[in-house]
Amino acid sequence: MREISLHILDLVQNSIEAGATAVKLEIIETIVKDSMVIRVYDNGRGMNKKMRQLVIDPFITTRTTRRIGLGLPLMDMSTKRCGGYLKIDSTPGQGTVIEAMYQHSHFDRPPMGNLVETIKSILVGNPVLEFSYKHTVDDKSISISSREIADILDGISLTQPDVLIWLHGYLSDNIANLYGGANDENN
Ligand SMILES: Nc1ncnc2c1ncn2[C@@H]1O[C@H](COP(=O)(O)OP(=O)(O)OP(=O)(O)O)[C@@H](O)[C@H]1O
Ligand SMILES: [Mg+2]
Repeated sequence: MREISLHILDLVQNSIEAGATAVKLEIIETIVKDSMVIRVYDNGRGMNKKMRQLVIDPFITTRTTRRIGLGLPLMDMSTKRCGGYLKIDSTPGQGTVIEAMYQHSHFDRPPMGNLVETIKSILVGNPVLEFSYKHTVDDKSISISSREIADILDGISLTQPDVLIWLHGYLSDNIANLYGGANDENN
């Protein structure tokens, strides 16, 4: 079973492969509504209607290194197993929004996994990407963007070891706060 943070990494990777220069990740968890919604918005090349219908099928890919694409079909199956869905909204030439929904309390819902490492690797691995991340858990919410981080760092590179340690702490603290402050990245 693939953790949700790894599915998120797949989605962001797809956006980057589609030429996106800006990617927004939104995670909305509500206990009352018993739902976890994940949205990834990008300004990449988009998909036409036929492509949107076909990409849930694992045999469809525009990648040339392997004949089948797995990212979207795997996440689609994972959401459906958990009372949810995966929806693709896209305009060719403008961008794409992927929305995935899980029943929060579903027995088979994969754990979030290590969101801190996921966000960190997106930021560090794509220094020129305009990335933003907003995460809501009931009435608590955080938002972090590559632009804000660049402002805090004021020209210092994200790849410097001491900066990486700072970034890890910054993300861990913010995310832990969402879950009541307990230092648990695997909620
Ligand atoms: N955000 C996006 N914008 C434009 N096209 C996309 C986007 N996400 C997916 N696609 C298209 O859908 C195809 C299937 O995506 P999927 O993630 O399932 O497989 P893949 O990326 O091709 O391969 P894998 O994820 O297994 O490495 C991609 O090859 C791409 O053509
Ligand atoms: Mg993919």
